[in-house]
Amino acid sequence: MENLEQSIKLFQENLKDALDNVVTQEQLEQVRVEFLGRHGKIIVLMGQLKTLDADEKRVFGPKLNQLKKTSEQAYKNRKIALEEEVRKLEILKKQQFDVTAYKPTTLEGSIHILSKTYDEIEDIFISMGYKVADGPELETDFYNFEALNIPKDHPSRDSQDTFWFNLPELLLRTQTSTVQIHEMEEHGVPTALISTGRVYRNEATDASHDFIFSQYEGLFVAENISMGNLLATMKTFLQRLFEKKDLDIRVRPGYFPFVEPGIEIDASCPFCKDGCSVCKKTKWIELLGAGLVHPNVLQYCKVDPKKYSGFAFGGGIERLAMVKYGINDIRYFHGANIEFLKQF
Ligand code: DAH
Repeated sequence: MENLEQSIKLFQENLKDALDNVVTQEQLEQVRVEFLGRHGKIIVLMGQLKTLDADEKRVFGPKLNQLKKTSEQAYKNRKIALEEEVRKLEILKKQQFDVTAYKPTTLEGSIHILSKTYDEIEDIFISMGYKVADGPELETDFYNFEALNIPKDHPSRDSQDTFWFNLPELLLRTQTSTVQIHEMEEHGVPTALISTGRVYRNEATDASHDFIFSQYEGLFVAENISMGNLLATMKTFLQRLFEKKDLDIRVRPGYFPFVEPGIEIDASCPFCKDGCSVCKKTKWIELLGAGLVHPNVLQYCKVDPKKYSGFAFGGGIERLAMVKYGINDIRYFHGANIEFLKQF
């Protein structure tokens, strides 16, 4: 009898401790199973009734029933309280979550300044109805020179020092003008295309020369295309690229074997009105080469020069980016200087 009295007390104490200590619904469920479940401690206690005599049963019967009721109630109360605690914790977590918090240790990536300039050039011509064309970097003598009206003994080959392969006739393209030939051969005319990509020249590196750099090439061939169309197009292109309506262009004669007449275009310095270090006090910056497509080039591509005429233009992309963003060394573009790249 004493024993049972003690067991009841112990049960109550243990249950209280266990309930006080739970912090999750899973722990609470374990406590319920251990104390109040079908094989729980309360059942064991009640089973002891059978061993008592009639008088004792009269005392402990109601006691044990009462114990069961109060224990179940204690469990229910704890369950409600626990739910409330979890809910409060969730609210607190949300309140403490600061969506505006800045994490200074996170490095943010960005589009490389060169890729950005490729995209800007392409976008301007796409908006004028040009298509974007692509060509291989591994080329043959025919596409890089011959079809561009630069025969084998032509002195202008010297100005484009070439990486040749051991295999005959194979080279790394020295200019994106190659894309003109591929396109007219494959798709004929009329055509209006812009192409951007890498070119290679076997020359020493300095602040304005790299042996790998990028060029763009444009070609417009249709009927009755004149120098006027070329100049208007170049003006629109450069004004948009430099985001300057009052950008003036200056045209000088220039020699490129694949155009006749050939011209070179300078733009008024976008950084100054009276001369600065970027334009070397000349107020002009050399930007690109262009001209009317040479009849020989059209003929190489089986286009009738009596029916069709057109213009072509091209130049260095790094050069445009250097002028636009005031970058003074071409080697920054292919260096992995994170401080430089982060600025754009
Ligand atoms: N391909 C020339 C170069 O690498 C640039 C150029 C000049 C392209 C005149 C043209 C052009 O289409 O008409 O220097």
